[in-house]
Amino acid sequence: MAHLRAQSYHFLFFFLAIAIASAQLSPSFYDKSCPGAFRSIRSAVYAAVLKEHRMGASLLRLHFHDCFVNGCDGSVLLDDTPTFTGEKTAAPNNNSIRGFEVIDTIKSNLEAICPQVVSCADILAIAARDSVVALGGPTWTVQLGRRDATTASFSDANSNIPKPTSDLSTLISDFSNKGLSATDLIALSGAHTIGQARCTTFRTRIYNETNIETSLATSLQSNCPSTGGDDKLSPLDAFTPNSFDNYYYKNLVNSKGLLHSDQQLYSGGSTDSQVTGYSSDLSKFYADFKAAMINMGNISPLTGTSGEIRKNCRKTN
Ligand code: HEM
Ligand SMILES: *[C@@H]1O[C@H](CO)[C@@H](O)[C@H](O)[C@H]1NC(C)=O
Ligand SMILES: *[C@@H]1O[C@H](CO)[C@@H](O)[C@H](O)[C@H]1NC(C)=O
Repeated sequence: MAHLRAQSYHFLFFFLAIAIASAQLSPSFYDKSCPGAFRSIRSAVYAAVLKEHRMGASLLRLHFHDCFVNGCDGSVLLDDTPTFTGEKTAAPNNNSIRGFEVIDTIKSNLEAICPQVVSCADILAIAARDSVVALGGPTWTVQLGRRDATTASFSDANSNIPKPTSDLSTLISDFSNKGLSATDLIALSGAHTIGQARCTTFRTRIYNETNIETSLATSLQSNCPSTGGDDKLSPLDAFTPNSFDNYYYKNLVNSKGLLHSDQQLYSGGSTDSQVTGYSSDLSKFYADFKAAMINMGNISPLTGTSGEIRKNCRKTN
């Protein structure tokens, strides 16, 4: 009897330890140490999005590209140094990711009210949420307590960030490799309801693919030549590019996805029904998007005494 009881205490401690280890992030992490953090970040994000709507899209994407490369650890923000090549010039990021000046402004505002408290990785997670809200999307409670990496990986950015040329099976396994489900993949791809893409990322689709609506392909070709003009921009959602709605999915159902990878989500495969569902049920999309953002934000955070709290998001302390 006594032996059994001792054993059940062991089990209790074991499960408690697991619960603590997997729940290290918390929404109240800065409640005492930086109660003004949310308000400060939100006002900078709203100002930036008011100035340029696209900035909301760019900030959301920064969090994604941070999380998919060795976890949500602020690594994407590190500048190259003479002895170190960061992630900014890796193929998915070079001449593409943006918003670093907004993150710098947020960080310097926070350093003025609570020095070296709020991590750059958490700033990205909060700015992503505030950006979605600023463009008319849903809100959610952001988990916090991530710390910042002291390294970044050019090669992992090249290999871990999903490619616009990928087919559905590859996209599903890219997400699965990060602990995210196919449901998360479809819901998170709804982020492409805002923002822009460069000609180089969709040229083959608009000239050579057959599952694209003809009039959309023709109109996109006028701003994306078959050679040259790599950096010319078109909206990922041609209809409501500055509004966080479900037009992304309505587009897919009508063969109006911009990227090859977008249209793959609705191309006769296992994910068609989820796309159709979101195209006709905005609140279902919002509910799943919120849950998927929290899942993505939980990818391998640095916590406890790992990593550091950077003073400047562009460099290690
Ligand atoms: C499913 C795999 C994904 C692929 C293959 C992909 C690929 C791309 C590509 C090629 C662009 C255009 C980049 C450029 O031309 O400079 C882009 C833009 C964007 N992506 Fe994704 N993406 C994916 C998932 C996501 C996710 C999960 C999010 C966020 C939750 C996201 C958010 C965005 C946003 C907001 C933009 C527009 C950025 C801006 O205008 O600055 N993407 N994506
Ligand atoms: C990044 O883009 C710049 C400007 O187009 C180019 O000169 C540079 O070679 C690119 N870097 C890498 C690593 O591809
Ligand atoms: C379209 O396909 C043809 C034939 O394979 C190829 O020569 C051409 O470069 C492709 N065009 C684009 C824009 O990808």
